[in-house]
Amino acid sequence: LNIVYVTSEAVPLAKTGGLADVCGTLPREVAALGHRCAVILPAFRSVYRAGLKIDTTDISFAIPMSPGKLVGGRLLRCLLPDSDVVVWLIDQPQYFDRESLYGDALGDYRDNAERFTFFCRAALAALARIEMDVDVLHCNDWQSGLIPALLQASPKAFGSLGKAATLMTIHNMAYQGQFHHDAFKWTGLDWKHFTHETFEYYGQLNFLKTGIVCADHVTTVSPRYAMEICTPQHGCGLDGVLASKGGRVTGITNGIDETVWNPATDVHLSANYDQNNWPSGKTANKRSLQLEFGLEESADVPMIGLVGRLAEQKGWDLILPLIRQHVEEGRPTQWMILGSGDKQIEAELTALAAQAPQQVAAHIGFHDALAHRIEAGADLFVMPSHYEPCGLNQLYSLRYGTIPIVTATGGLADTVVDTTAETLSNQTATGFHLREVSPRGLDESIGRALKLRYHEQKIWNNLVQRAMAADWSWRKSASQYVELYDNAVSLKGGKAL
Ligand code: ADP
Ligand code: GLC
Repeated sequence: LNIVYVTSEAVPLAKTGGLADVCGTLPREVAALGHRCAVILPAFRSVYRAGLKIDTTDISFAIPMSPGKLVGGRLLRCLLPDSDVVVWLIDQPQYFDRESLYGDALGDYRDNAERFTFFCRAALAALARIEMDVDVLHCNDWQSGLIPALLQASPKAFGSLGKAATLMTIHNMAYQGQFHHDAFKWTGLDWKHFTHETFEYYGQLNFLKTGIVCADHVTTVSPRYAMEICTPQHGCGLDGVLASKGGRVTGITNGIDETVWNPATDVHLSANYDQNNWPSGKTANKRSLQLEFGLEESADVPMIGLVGRLAEQKGWDLILPLIRQHVEEGRPTQWMILGSGDKQIEAELTALAAQAPQQVAAHIGFHDALAHRIEAGADLFVMPSHYEPCGLNQLYSLRYGTIPIVTATGGLADTVVDTTAETLSNQTATGFHLREVSPRGLDESIGRALKLRYHEQKIWNNLVQRAMAADWSWRKSASQYVELYDNAVSLKGGKAL
């Protein structure tokens, strides 16, 4: 099959979160199964900083964004590292050559509807001209949500691309790309298309809803989240829209890129380690973090790691009061935090680190190498998300023998097995679930973990070894995607495998 992934993020070119990890890895894994894969991405400023060789092509396009506004651009090309997966880049400097992908300190860029409508339209215009008989267009999140609808609205405009099967993957239901209805004008379509059956959602333009409705198949990134988003509690207002897809909603758990996230070969670590020598390896990594961040130098004190977007989703309303409590009570714990996002949370973390510099370290910003080092050096990784479509950090934690403490929601519930008498005896336990979603519940599960860590050494060692041995590679999930692609293509009347 010939598959094109449409996305606004892909490592190592553009990243704000897990979407980038998935879209930089899944195409390579599917290509390894014998398919031809390509990615199409806006040429953000970060793309030029990634150190890959970027070639020009002779494909350019001019999109009539509104009467009198013709926006031109050209197609560039590079390869995902260590692969023959082509990344097509939509080069339009006014829209994409900016410091961040979606916004700045003042909030989201005000022209995001226009930028990403342009991206969708330009991607189709460009793909219609490359020499690739596309079987599947795999769209990811709201930024590419208009693609299936644009194809449906004018199938003939894009040549054989009009016959491609479309897949829409929801990486996070809470981010829908919802804008004032006026933004519909950027699609270039007649207003007769702006109905509640496709683009319109309570009077507004909604990119993700449009993608869900018009795609041939919808997926999300874990089976549990696939069920959750069909309920009003987690559906973010689109549970009814999903219900209308019938059986065409599937949950496929993300995998991890083991060429990058493997403690035995990770280039960012002070010491590499595997299942056989993890105690000394992890201690060396912990020590280097303690030295660098001025934390108390001690192999014995438990280090609790956190890496992630500073957003409500991730449960900072549980984490911050608990750290404060540990600081005030002088509890023997150490907190090593990396994150960026919400300014209020940034300020609170910075204040806690200033108040207890030997107990709390907070690096505010995006720092890939430090994320790896925290995964390796910490004893526990805390991720009490209020919802989590899949989550990759807990998978990295498992791989690095850093026991995850998670809420039993979405992909966290699907990938971390809570430690109980039963899961210890049947040897399946890999981490800890919160019994109550509150600072107290978080403290209780950290307490359960530390009790094993310090008083049941043998059980703890088994737990760490089992976590490290679990297979979260992409192998299985990539095959599941291929099965869906194949079904979608045959339902469309195209070629079968
Ligand atoms: P989400 O996509 O919701 O942010 P995931 O757990 O799926 O959550 O993926 C987050 C990804 O982003 C991981 O690869 C994580 O290491 C990375 N990440 C998040 N925040 C930072 C940061 N401040 N610095 C470096 N990497 C980060
Ligand atoms: C989203 C989700 C996260 C998921 C990632 C990649 O950002 O919040 O849970 O792992 O996408 O699919």
